Amino acid sequence: MDFLFSNTLINWFSKHQRDLPWRKTNDPYSIWLSEVILQQTRVNQGLPYFQKFITTYPTVHDLARASEDEVLKMWQGLGYYSRGRRLLATAKAISEMHEFPKKYESLIELNGIGDYTASAISSFSNNEYRAVLDGNVFRVLSRYFGLAEPINSTSGKKKFQELALSMLPRKNTSTYNQAIMEFGALQCIPKNPDCSICPLQDSCYALSQKKINTLPVKNRKKAPTALFLYFAVININDHLLLRKRPKHGIWARLFEFPNLEVEVEMPEIDILENLKAHFNIESPVLRVSHEYHHALTHRKIKAKFFEFKANQDYKIPEHCTLVSQDEIHTYAVPRLLEKYLNEKKYN
Ligand code: ADE
Ligand code: SF4
Repeated sequence: MDFLFSNTLINWFSKHQRDLPWRKTNDPYSIWLSEVILQQTRVNQGLPYFQKFITTYPTVHDLARASEDEVLKMWQGLGYYSRGRRLLATAKAISEMHEFPKKYESLIELNGIGDYTASAISSFSNNEYRAVLDGNVFRVLSRYFGLAEPINSTSGKKKFQELALSMLPRKNTSTYNQAIMEFGALQCIPKNPDCSICPLQDSCYALSQKKINTLPVKNRKKAPTALFLYFAVININDHLLLRKRPKHGIWARLFEFPNLEVEVEMPEIDILENLKAHFNIESPVLRVSHEYHHALTHRKIKAKFFEFKANQDYKIPEHCTLVSQDEIHTYAVPRLLEKYLNEKKYN
């Protein structure tokens, strides 16, 4: 173990760490909840979500009893709903167990808990000897030791795992793991870290070799493909037509307006013809929204909303439900629809 590196980080942490609720506990449930939220967002944005969840569901059993729609509604805004959904499924599985597991070996058996989360929970709640590797840790290790393997390749991950483990103190792994993560989040930040105040500046590879901007190395990913979504916003006596998305694929099981989903942009005249034919619309379009842009991991979405007022004898298409405009905000919808609804003030 490199005492200089580890001790410097622990020392720095004792002076600079943020006061965060999940650091004041060794309750594995709270720690798990915070980690799931923080995989999704930064600390400042995640804090209110953590408070909301832990207040509404103080134990894993409370969470396990919640409905999926309820949990997704609370998750709304964090994006990537499959994580919110997995949170509930994992809570249900854990709730059946004798107690919330603290050991890596038991945690990793659970669906929805991967290596990072199992390491974090076992180390933070129980000081288990596990190195926690997140984006912050990759950056600190890569820069300080000059490890230039791609952090998103299998062999690179293995090298970082070995290096991380070789730095891990035998005792108090919780403090050390949190220290290196916090150091990456606050001191060794992605852009323009202030190395002049860094306690590791005398021995840092990236600083001495002027490689701060090129470390860590990441392989380029495939470019996301375009997806065009054309929504029919059908108003029937101040109610809007919603449907639930399928179980699989993007935005699984969230609510949305009926729509066309295509990979190639369509002219407006064709869009209208298709929307009308698919969703029994006979009235003319009242308004067409501007184009909304939304990025998902593998998709670049461009969306437009076509607003209609239905006739008296409108026949509601299959799998659709009518929701009053006042209640639409209680439905879990994709972030993209939320943006539109906010601009329309339905929300
Ligand atoms: N990011 C991921 N886990 C974290 C934690 N426990 N504290 C602060 N930031 C984090
Ligand atoms: Fe990061 Fe700069 Fe400190 Fe090196 S000297 S660890 S690059 S902040």
